[in-house]
Amino acid sequence: MPEDEGDLLHRVALEQLRHGPGLEVGSYCGKSAIYLGAAARAVGGTVFTVDHHRGSEENQVGWEYHDPTLADPATGRLDTLATFRRTIADAGLEEQVVAVVGRSTTVSRHWRTPLSLLFVDGGHTDEHAGNDYTGFGRWVSRDAVMVVHDVFPDPADGGQAPYRVYLRALACGFEETASLGSMRVLTRVGGDAGDPVS
Ligand SMILES: C[S@@+](CC[C@H](N)C(=O)[O-])C[C@H]1O[C@@H](n2cnc3c(N)ncnc32)[C@H](O)[C@@H]1O
Repeated sequence: MPEDEGDLLHRVALEQLRHGPGLEVGSYCGKSAIYLGAAARAVGGTVFTVDHHRGSEENQVGWEYHDPTLADPATGRLDTLATFRRTIADAGLEEQVVAVVGRSTTVSRHWRTPLSLLFVDGGHTDEHAGNDYTGFGRWVSRDAVMVVHDVFPDPADGGQAPYRVYLRALACGFEETASLGSMRVLTRVGGDAGDPVS
């Protein structure tokens, strides 16, 4: 998360989190949660952040973004939860940032709370990004905001799944209200929390 994109996320969260809770998909080690949590602290808000803490495809052994220091020595499996918790504790944000540990599809299946802000930055395959959009995007309230990360219109710049989510949202009641780097800020102008998105 480049600093300028983090600053945009923080500004959007400052505006949105005064109206209701926010939810992030993809906590990893907590960097984006700091931007969100700091905004929540400023306005008395709350941010839920969902991750199974086993890493995405690119974090696994042999892949580009594998960090061996994040593996649990007992199992050899990636486990970012302890690092995430330390990040949030060190930032003094434990009151504002609530970790939800589990698969995003399991959590979204049971989620029923309208969201003032959704930040989509979990798995970057079509399957995962698409599920995160349909599972949580429907809970974005009218006039509230969904932020999608790693949107690359040009395939030479990166994977296309978040871009396809962005296009789907534009065709389904979301309007682009800001953009910086690979970050897109979309406001829900059609439908309301609970209405399905496609
Ligand atoms: C790109 S990282 C998130 C980075 C973080 N938002 C930041 O900027 O600091 C993606 C995260 O999504 C998580 N993830 C991927 N697929 C998931 C799924 N199906 N359910 C829950 N978490 C998932 C991975 O474990 C990983 O930590």
